[in-house]
Amino acid sequence: MIALEHVSRRYGRAGEIVALDDVSLEIDEGEFVLLSGPSGAGKSTLLKLIFAAERPESGTIRVLGHDLARLRGSSVPFLRRNIGVVFQNFRLLPGLSALDNVAIALEVRGLPRRVIRERAASALGLVGLARRLEARAGWLSAGEQQRVAIARAIAGEPAILLADEPTGNLDPRLTLDLLQILFEVNRRGTTIIVATHDLQVMAAGARHGWRHLGLETGRIVAPTRHQWLDDAEMVAAAVAPHDLGSVPPIAHDPSHSADHAIFADQPSLHDLMPEQLALAPSGYDESAAEIVPLHVVRSANGRPS
Ligand SMILES: Nc1ncnc2c1ncn2[C@@H]1O[C@H](COP(=O)(O)OP(=O)(O)O)[C@@H](O)[C@H]1O
Ligand SMILES: [Mg+2]
Repeated sequence: MIALEHVSRRYGRAGEIVALDDVSLEIDEGEFVLLSGPSGAGKSTLLKLIFAAERPESGTIRVLGHDLARLRGSSVPFLRRNIGVVFQNFRLLPGLSALDNVAIALEVRGLPRRVIRERAASALGLVGLARRLEARAGWLSAGEQQRVAIARAIAGEPAILLADEPTGNLDPRLTLDLLQILFEVNRRGTTIIVATHDLQVMAAGARHGWRHLGLETGRIVAPTRHQWLDDAEMVAAAVAPHDLGSVPPIAHDPSHSADHAIFADQPSLHDLMPEQLALAPSGYDESAAEIVPLHVVRSANGRPS
């Protein structure tokens, strides 16, 4: 469904900024993929290449049967009809109602107005906003705005949904709601790629067996489970024990692996309580990690510091 072969993308006058470096990957229909990696790793660039907002310097990209290098400009809108996109900062029209924000995305398809409104309302219903159809987008809360953005992305029933840091502006509870919605959209058959550096999202993904692709300075790295578990331990160690509530003291007892805390048996996403997953605040960024005493974490886990 999506295939990249030896794709590279550079920026800067002399191409000195390497955003993607010889990336090859394949994503099948119906997959739920987490694309993780620190800021600047190339996550957004990869998503932009997939919906033809950028072109690669080299390599080939096939999406839904199209070779993007051969796709004429006039065909791009047709490709994009099958790809829904959600951004961190929502990108809604604040003066319009939730319904109109979603309807606008469907208008380009030339459907009858009644059908458009029905579809828009049904997409908003799926994200739990059936009662807020007429609310002005600018007056909705962050969680509601993000849900409108998702409704807009899925209203056209795209084959692929791309979400770029969709939880960056959401608190842990809203992040869980959003994951639940994405989970449902995927269950209905949409292939999903979520670019994220949110540990809570990665923990949920690990729990549910979503595929996890790691990017680091433009390269796909081997499954990064160990890498983000290290991050999770780091954050856990930075939080005073009483803040962790009922979460086992993962960073203090060498016999208690971090896997234990995060992969505690949970029947469904609904039951993943924020305090069990929210080892980091949503929108966790690397700059915050710099204040963490790394050596404490390492030695607490029985590893050399
Ligand atoms: N339009 C651009 N012009 C110059 N540099 C860019 C541009 N877009 C991205 N980059 C650079 O490419 C690298 C990857 O960026 P990006 O794909 O946005 O990473 P991520 O989404 O993982 O944070 C970064 O070094 C970034 O500064
Ligand atoms: Mg990005």
